[in-house]
Amino acid sequence: MNITSKTTICMIIGDPVEHSISPQMHNACYEAVGLEEKFVFVASKVKRENLEQAINGIKALNIHGITVTIPHKTNVMNLLDTIDPVAEKIGAVNTVVNKNGTLTGYNTDWVGIADSLKHTTQLKDKEVAILGAGGAARAAIFAVKELGAKVGIFNRTVENAKILAEEFNCVYASINETEKIKNYDVIINTTSVGLKSVETPISADAIKKEHIVFDIIYTPYETQLLKLAKEKGAQVIHGTEMLLYQGLAQFKLYTGKDVPEEIMRKAILENT
Ligand code: ATR
Repeated sequence: MNITSKTTICMIIGDPVEHSISPQMHNACYEAVGLEEKFVFVASKVKRENLEQAINGIKALNIHGITVTIPHKTNVMNLLDTIDPVAEKIGAVNTVVNKNGTLTGYNTDWVGIADSLKHTTQLKDKEVAILGAGGAARAAIFAVKELGAKVGIFNRTVENAKILAEEFNCVYASINETEKIKNYDVIINTTSVGLKSVETPISADAIKKEHIVFDIIYTPYETQLLKLAKEKGAQVIHGTEMLLYQGLAQFKLYTGKDVPEEIMRKAILENT
């Protein structure tokens, strides 16, 4: 045990949060780069209605880094002192740094999505179907547009898709529009459907072998959506890739240091 009264605390807040492997990921990396006495990473379940109290507590307790997950990525923005311009554009924050009581919000999700895609394919002029219209969808839309792709947003609540489509200048439809989804080159799931369950956000009929299917969910490692995609012969990208690339950027924001990609990848794969 290397924790002392000088150890800096980072944490993930969300609901649910029990599935998160961010603590194992960050703690293993602190150890690997010799920061295990300086930093520790924990998790705290924070209900939607308690977010403001939690943020006040984080300031009062001088918690240094806060990873923000479902369902707080958009609501947290109003409670921060400053927002990084890219996170502002995206409209979602997943990383908060507390510097002398001033909380600044960043978005590393988009980096995670963009880097995962860059390692797999060239997106320029391709068409990408984004499933979902929440905070993670915002990061995904921003990422694929940065890479030069065209976007269609597909969501259960069509009104939510419409709001994002107008903001980011793309088309939208219901997530049940199987035939439309089929025409896209890449499918990215940003909904919570499939998290610790065998449900899928779209039916098997929407997937064909030419697709690249990316699920940002990483628990289970292989979601039902990715299983269906593999069965069809499609190429898949696991959510652990996004976790890795967003995590590398987040680690730097919290500690000021880089961690080798292979060390973080090992920590992730040992815990999924
Ligand atoms: P996050 O910040 O992680 O994106 P969120 O903002 O709560 O989380 O968004 C969750 C997304 O998952 C939404 O697009 C939601 O669809 P609605 O806009 O219709 O709520 C989608 N989602 C959640 N449960 C779903 C379900 N059972 N079927 C289809 N979509 C679902």
